[in-house]
Amino acid sequence: MSPFDAPPRLRLVNAPTPLQPAVGLSEALGTEVWFKRDDLTGIGLGGNKVRALEYLIADALRHGCDSLVTGAGPQSNWAMLAAVTARQHGLEPHLVYYGASAEPVGNHALAELVGADIRFTGSTERTSVDAGIEALTRELRSRGRRPYALPRGGATPLGSIGYLRASGELADQFDETGLKPESVWLATGSCGTQAGLVAGARLWGASYRVTGVSVSRPVTECAARVTELAHEAGRLVGVAGTGADDIEILDGLTGSGYGRPSATGGEAARLVARTEGVFLDPVFGAKAMAVLVERARAGRQRGPVVFLVSGGAPTLFGPPQTPLPSSAPDSPERRP
Ligand SMILES: Cc1ncc(COP(=O)(O)O)c(C=O)c1O
Repeated sequence: MSPFDAPPRLRLVNAPTPLQPAVGLSEALGTEVWFKRDDLTGIGLGGNKVRALEYLIADALRHGCDSLVTGAGPQSNWAMLAAVTARQHGLEPHLVYYGASAEPVGNHALAELVGADIRFTGSTERTSVDAGIEALTRELRSRGRRPYALPRGGATPLGSIGYLRASGELADQFDETGLKPESVWLATGSCGTQAGLVAGARLWGASYRVTGVSVSRPVTECAARVTELAHEAGRLVGVAGTGADDIEILDGLTGSGYGRPSATGGEAARLVARTEGVFLDPVFGAKAMAVLVERARAGRQRGPVVFLVSGGAPTLFGPPQTPLPSSAPDSPERRP
């Protein structure tokens, strides 16, 4: 039995997702780039969060829960995919969004499509969601329901096992293709995805670095979260000692702050759309790619690089994730 089979898991991901050379982009950058297509995980409109939900929804079912409570902003990919997978597996989805009620578009509209119960906190503070999740969970319990509550982003050690497992998928694909990447790049928000990849790289003795581009938190805060989540996720499946050495986090907050498109992200997204026919989302993927493009063009990035295309397609059509102008984009209230 593989260590990942110890925590119960649902099979939600259409795995393995493709690992493909980004030939046109590599030519444009002068650095060899490959894409790991986790925008094609196969549920909803795909994305990285489905891998975490394989473990989280299974855990909710194992505990006999009948509903799921989580939240974020109305354009959260996480909240939408949590609602979709919960509904599919018989759990009633409840979402708490910060802000005030608005015409449903993008992820908000998709969450409504699966019949999520949606409540707005009425506050533009992100942290209002945390209190809202707690209050709603209590309310549901008082009505005799059995809710399973998850934090914004689903960033828990159990959820991170999804990308610990994905590292094994990558290891198999590297064996098949003969690819020996210098680094695996991704956009980092609530840090669970990078934590899983870091723990997985350690488990498989990988020689690549896991490079996260933090798009919603200061680098130091992100590093601490990744370290802790990687350690805890590793512990759950018996992987010892995932330390800070495995972690590289670059600043992707420059420009417009979390949740709003940036000029460099827009340029990177155009380049990828035109060379690869892949649409990067403006909140996560485009900003991570912008940092990779800048480093490659400056001759500071060796290849091959594997770039995780992590989904987020609905936000290509929705309004900005963070609706209000921000004077302090790094402030804790503005993080996912
Ligand atoms: C499309 C997309 N990419 C990347 C991320 C970052 O993942 P994490 O929150 O695990 O750091 C998210 C988070 O919501 C996302 O929606």
